[in-house]
Amino acid sequence: MDKIVIEGGTPLSGEISISGAKNSALKLMVACLLTDEVLTLTNMPNLRDTRFLGHLLANFGVAVKDGIGNISLHAKTLTSTTAPYDLVRKMRASFNVLGPVLARAHKAKVSLPGGCAIGARPVDLHLNALKAMGAQIELSEGYVIATAKGGLKGAEITFPFISVGATEHSMLAAVLAKGETVLNNAAREPEIVDLANCLNAMGAKISGAGRSEITIEGVKKLSGIKFAVVPDRIEAGTYALAAATVGGAVRLVNVRSDHLGSLWPLIAQAGAKVTMDENSVLVERHGTPIRPVDVETQAYPGFPTDLQAQFMAMVCLADGVSIIRENIFENRFMHCPELSRMGANITVTGREAIIRGVPKLKGAQVMATDLRASASLIAAGLAAEGTTEVGRVYHLDRGFEQIEVKLGNCGARIKRVSE
Ligand code: EPZ
Repeated sequence: MDKIVIEGGTPLSGEISISGAKNSALKLMVACLLTDEVLTLTNMPNLRDTRFLGHLLANFGVAVKDGIGNISLHAKTLTSTTAPYDLVRKMRASFNVLGPVLARAHKAKVSLPGGCAIGARPVDLHLNALKAMGAQIELSEGYVIATAKGGLKGAEITFPFISVGATEHSMLAAVLAKGETVLNNAAREPEIVDLANCLNAMGAKISGAGRSEITIEGVKKLSGIKFAVVPDRIEAGTYALAAATVGGAVRLVNVRSDHLGSLWPLIAQAGAKVTMDENSVLVERHGTPIRPVDVETQAYPGFPTDLQAQFMAMVCLADGVSIIRENIFENRFMHCPELSRMGANITVTGREAIIRGVPKLKGAQVMATDLRASASLIAAGLAAEGTTEVGRVYHLDRGFEQIEVKLGNCGARIKRVSE
């Protein structure tokens, strides 16, 4: 199994090009199931999760052609309507095939995803939305067996709380439904807007994406198109925070700075300088101390849970006490014991972590526990004195394209070692 080995203490200096967003690409790939024509995605990140979803789609009869930075998906006919446990268990986003397969084939059998390291993550909102659209849903032996005789029907759906996945899944199911669907209390993340833009370019009629109320007027057929995946705001935020944590100057290019509106003032509050122009963001910290900053995670446009671990790595080195509250997932503090192994002073009580800044971190052997936690350990390792070894790197490969190469190009002493 690979590990990442870091010699800490060198400031970062250079330019990093941001890849297409994993969490958008995964839903855009699923949209291919809604048309018998070819969907080509460009600005595609090459990640374990996207490759894995390619296998799952192939299992449904989709012809998958992988290029460099692009992918073509052709679901001419669906040869299967079942997503088996092994394929859904390894990646929760696979569950989102249920709605599109149901919309197209009027039946689908998809394994329930089960919990994961960051929380229980139920799918009740997804299933309730499909039921409201007329699906008959039966749960049997760990599978959702859904049927919609005569197809799905438009419905008014009010989510009890905001869910990115349930909003996307409902959109994917509703585009081919008969009549109008209204989603109230919908998620507003840029990935939702990206999916709506792609579906609309395919011929769907979605309005309001990016706002709390989304309206979808069902259409009979969608067409194939070419569509560019939005830049990854979480990858961009991760490198911005790494620059603030380690020090130096990093310019992010191919970035949508407007998608990180909650992050920039907090990085500035922590003592780094953020300069933006139309196409890039420069993050710098040259010797000024890191100041403590409190933050709580929220649905977009609030501070993203997917940057919480990386933010924590930064304030571990602050000149004072910071409080981080995790509101989205109930168990997303697994990086805390690992950061503590490097000398951080963190106390977790329920959904809150109190971080008492320390003057320095020390390299250690640590274990990645989930995707974003892995990135926080890498930033901590780059800032620490001595050698850090991050194990279980497969988490990292799910969502960061060539992280060691991108950081290495900025002068970081980081390498991947195969054992
Ligand atoms: C998406 O997960 C992202 N994943 C997550 O990124 C991200 O952390 C999350 O949105 C929040 O921004 C993908 O896009 C593939 P939710 P999702 O539905 O859609 C509860 C990463 O590191 N809930 O908004 O699963 C749920 O348990 C990943 O890239 C229900 O109770 O998130 C959670 O507490 C991790 N019932 C909360 O809602 C449901 O039916 C928000 O989850 C659905 C969700």
